[in-house]
Parts: sequence; C-alpha cells; structure tokens
Amino acid sequence: MLEVATVVGSAILPHVSALARLRRIVFRDWPYLYDGDDAYEAEYLATYARCPQAALAIAWNGAEAVGMSSCLPLLDETDNVVAPFRAAGLDPARWFYFGESVLLREHRGAGVGVAFFEQREAHARSLGGYEHAAFCAVQRPDDYPMRPADAVPLDGFWRRRGFAPRPGLLCTMRWRDLGQGGETDHSMQFWTKHLVGDAA
Ligand SMILES: CC(C)(COP(=O)(O)OP(=O)(O)OC[C@H]1O[C@@H](n2cnc3c(N)ncnc32)[C@H](O)[C@@H]1OP(=O)(O)O)[C@@H](O)C(=O)NCCC(=O)NCCS
Repeated sequence: MLEVATVVGSAILPHVSALARLRRIVFRDWPYLYDGDDAYEAEYLATYARCPQAALAIAWNGAEAVGMSSCLPLLDETDNVVAPFRAAGLDPARWFYFGESVLLREHRGAGVGVAFFEQREAHARSLGGYEHAAFCAVQRPDDYPMRPADAVPLDGFWRRRGFAPRPGLLCTMRWRDLGQGGETDHSMQFWTKHLVGDAA
C-alpha cells in the first residue's frame, strides 16, 4: 500500500537524489522523451528545497520513494515560465505553479496521481493569497514518429482534476530528446484551475 506525504521547503533536501533518479526514469518515456542526467535533476530539485513555500508530494512504497509531484509559487519559477502570464495580463503573484508528477509505471492507476493534485492544492490553499494553479504539458504533433500506438493522453485525467488548457498561454522549455544531439525547444501548453472556485 502506497502512502503519499507532503514535504515543504528545506525538508525536501534529503530526498533530492532519489527523486532525481525517478524523474530521469519516468521522463524518458512518451511524451517527454527526455534524455536527462541525475546531476542536473538533483540541482533542479535543490531549487525547490531553497524555496520555503515549495512542496513535494512524495509517494512511498515502504521506505522507497516511487513517485513525486512538485509545486511552488509561480514567481519562484524561471522567467520563461513566468513571462507568458505577465504578457497575458495575469498577476503571477496570485498563481501557484505545479511543476510535474512522476510515478513508476507499476504503481499507476491506484489513486496516487489524484493524491498528488489534492496535496498540492491543499498546500497552495494553506499558504493563502494564491487564487489559481497552473501546470504545463508538452505538445507533440499527432504524427510524431516516437508516439506509441497505445499512448493515452492525460487530458481527461487533468480535466477531471478541474484543470483546462488556457488558449494562447504557452511557454517554451529546452531539453535534449532521446536520440538528439543537443537541446531543442519544446512548446508547452498551460493548464489552469481557479483554486477558490470551479472556473478554470
Ligand atoms: C500522471 C501520473 C502521475 C498519474 O498517476 P496515477 O497514479 O496513475 O493516477 P491515479 O491512479 O491517481 O488516477 C488515474 C485514474 O484512476 C482512478 N483511481 C484508481 N484508483 C483510485 C483510488 N484508489 N483513489 C482515487 N482514484 C483512483 C483515478 O480516479 C483516475 O481516474 P479519473 O481521472 O477517471 O478520476 C502518472 O500517469 C505518470 O507518472 N505519468 C508519467 C509522467 C507524466 O506524464 N506526468 C505528467 C506531466 S508532468
């Protein structure tokens, strides 16, 4: 039986290397196809540990971390993530950013992903002042050669968590896809939710 628990700010630090490995494993798969390395991942996660309002929801199988999900105030994210909100006339100070969710395949479909959303939303609400949550998802063309025939998009799962894609709100992230020589730009669509009501 898995347990999901939230850790906040500097309490994230002891878990960084185990979680870096998880991110690298899960993001190699469709649709991220991310050719990452543990050292970069550990440094990325350490930025969460340096942010007092950041939180991770971690899924535990006994003493082993098998999944995690991240969140932090949007203003603590990098410029490429914050800028589209300002450009759209949205006040980034009112937004909480949900970074990503990763869970080893053998533990999927048992409610952990739902718990990840519930715990991150509870954390954002507990801080006060954050009216909206947002995350972004990579966009790949329908005919992308590496798309598995049985790929199931997460769109329905996200809609059932109360999120909807916000037309025109996009950012760009760079990473190296598997099989590519170097980093390339990836277009990311923001999905949003109003935390104090039902409207997206
Ligand atoms: C995203 C991800 C974490 C979802 O995790 P998951 O644990 O499989 O999701 P869940 O089991 O919570 O939810 C899947 C469905 O099972 C249902 N479910 C099954 N058992 C459940 C239980 N005991 N309690 C609650 N929900 C349950 C959920 O309600 C949901 O169905 P719904 O959308 O119709 O409500 C996982 O698919 C993943 O790691 N994907 C790869 C990485 C990725 O793409 N991440 C997203 C972008 S960063």
